[in-house]
Amino acid sequence: MAQKTYMKTYIIGNWKMHGVRTSARALASTVLDAAGRLASQKTEVILCPPATLLSLIADLTYNTPVRCGGQDCHAEAEGAYTGEISAAMLRDAGATYVIVGHSERRAGHSESSREVNRKAEAALAAGLRPVLCVGESLAERKAGRAMDTVRRQLRESMPRQGDTKRVIVAYEPVWAIGTGQVANASDIAEMHAHIATLLKSEFGFAETEVAVLYGGSVKPANAAEILRCPGVHGVLVGSASLNAEEFVAIINAAQS
Ligand code: PGA
Repeated sequence: MAQKTYMKTYIIGNWKMHGVRTSARALASTVLDAAGRLASQKTEVILCPPATLLSLIADLTYNTPVRCGGQDCHAEAEGAYTGEISAAMLRDAGATYVIVGHSERRAGHSESSREVNRKAEAALAAGLRPVLCVGESLAERKAGRAMDTVRRQLRESMPRQGDTKRVIVAYEPVWAIGTGQVANASDIAEMHAHIATLLKSEFGFAETEVAVLYGGSVKPANAAEILRCPGVHGVLVGSASLNAEEFVAIINAAQS
């Protein structure tokens, strides 16, 4: 994988709203056993548990090559926002990353790209690396508007302030999330080339300065092919990250 010689491969597990202490401890321990060996200078493995489990996972991964992250943060540093969690709180709990703009939040919580932009900037300000998700719906892809959608989302949600090189972009076509339907290799390569061009033309990033991941039904069976696509610097994994064996197989695919 030529493009991996100068950029890390990121394997991120998004546990979503799954897990309690017992199951999380067992899952993380199994992943750690294997990933502790596999995660290396070239591969960054990141676990994103629900907020209630973050401290536990941060403790378990302390002093190991595995990192952890939150699944969302509030745009404000603190305040009267019942039920919300700030980026600084995630950092305090042991996170070094945070997912922002996941389609389940954009759709299910009506988050606008502007809101996602503020969250990403808040994450950077708190010292976290935001994993900024973008991706078109099925209707947008069918209407030939996938590129335009991603351009608009990126333009509006990419942070403009802070150490913006620390952002990781995740391209997650909404129709591929949790459906078992994966974008084909040429569509993935095409969108990743589009994103690289936008990162350069709109934000001035040199090629490969910002990592761009793919997400949506990534499994052991398709991980190697996806990771071989030009411009793909890693994967954001949902359901397969809840199965230690499958997640470890995906981490393994990044080594080959
Ligand atoms: P999935 O989820 O792997 O279950 O499709 C991916 C994601 O939502 O990040």
